[in-house]
Amino acid sequence: MFKYLVYLPPHMGTEDGRRILVTGALGQIGTELVIALRECFGNENVISSDITEIEPENQSLYLVCDVTNKAAISSIIEEYNIGQIYHLAALLSATGENNPELCYNVNMNGLLNVLELAKEYNLRVFAPSSIAVFGPDTPSIAPQTYPLNPTTMYGVTKVAGELLSDYYHSVHGVDVRGLRYPGLISWKMLPGGGTTDYAVEIYYDAIRKGKYTCFVNSETKLPMMYIGDAIRATLELMAAPLGSLSLHSNYNLGAMCFTVNELVNSIRRIIPNFEIDYEIDHRQKYADSWPDSIDDTTARLDWGWEPEFDLEATTEIMIENLKPKLLNSM
Ligand code: NAD
Ligand code: SER
Repeated sequence: MFKYLVYLPPHMGTEDGRRILVTGALGQIGTELVIALRECFGNENVISSDITEIEPENQSLYLVCDVTNKAAISSIIEEYNIGQIYHLAALLSATGENNPELCYNVNMNGLLNVLELAKEYNLRVFAPSSIAVFGPDTPSIAPQTYPLNPTTMYGVTKVAGELLSDYYHSVHGVDVRGLRYPGLISWKMLPGGGTTDYAVEIYYDAIRKGKYTCFVNSETKLPMMYIGDAIRATLELMAAPLGSLSLHSNYNLGAMCFTVNELVNSIRRIIPNFEIDYEIDHRQKYADSWPDSIDDTTARLDWGWEPEFDLEATTEIMIENLKPKLLNSM
């Protein structure tokens, strides 16, 4: 299913022989990134971690780790000989706006802890950013470089996180890299409280109920990406020679953009009777503050970024994979 092995041949072990730690690994991205990293670097070289206790049978190479606890991360680095951290632990836009103080604490102090430890232990770091760095004053196609005036706490932490990462790179020489992911669409794990969640939930409800009640209006248009592209972009960015990168923590990354209407029509090509209605909530405001689309020319030039999945391909993959998963559990 994934194509990244074409770009990054599988091999056992990392370049420096040290292991990889993934924080926030039980989330939408971590669930798939851990699988991909293990394919590339070997199961025993990738430790997944999150704040949640999990069932004993799934505990192999999984550790409970709260990223706001620096000592806990530090002891994992020492005990498991960690050389890279993919730092995914965060609160997203909707959850973050419900609890801005917690969002600030997890997103900022978690990242600060990881960067401080990266300086101390000479670690490489992947720290993702988001289209949420942009604010309502951004042009509809967001340029790579533009004043960043987000209106959500989540967006504020992402802007500050980019600046903090660039500070650790320029002042302390930490090799930290990051992408401004668009809204991600995947079928293995539901998203964890973002504004773009509607673009995933819609497929679940289309299959289970033939109907979805959407919390943003039909003309809402946002940058989106199928998870396979996002995982490949992550691996490609981390594999790129440092000298080829003109940016570090803030690459715009694009694949497709569509309105809710266009999404509905693509689902109706496979499920013709699919119905939609709307109950708009506070997330409309966050969606309206973000750009429709994103200019990723710098990523294309610096490390050859090219997306593979468009809306039609995404819809086919989502329905094909969700149908057996959801209908078997009904
Ligand atoms: P998610 O909400 O699905 O997963 C985040 C994980 O972090 C969860 O499993 C949660 O339990 C964990 N977590 C929360 N607090 C923690 C703490 N104190 N310590 C350790 N773990 C903690 O999020 P995701 O979609 O996988 O996002 C991962 C990263 O990618 C985030 O930085 C997010 O901002 C960024 N991103 C995601 C999207 C997207 O559409 N999914 C888009 C842009 C950027
Ligand atoms: N998908 C994320 C959100 O909606 C964007 O970073 O919060």
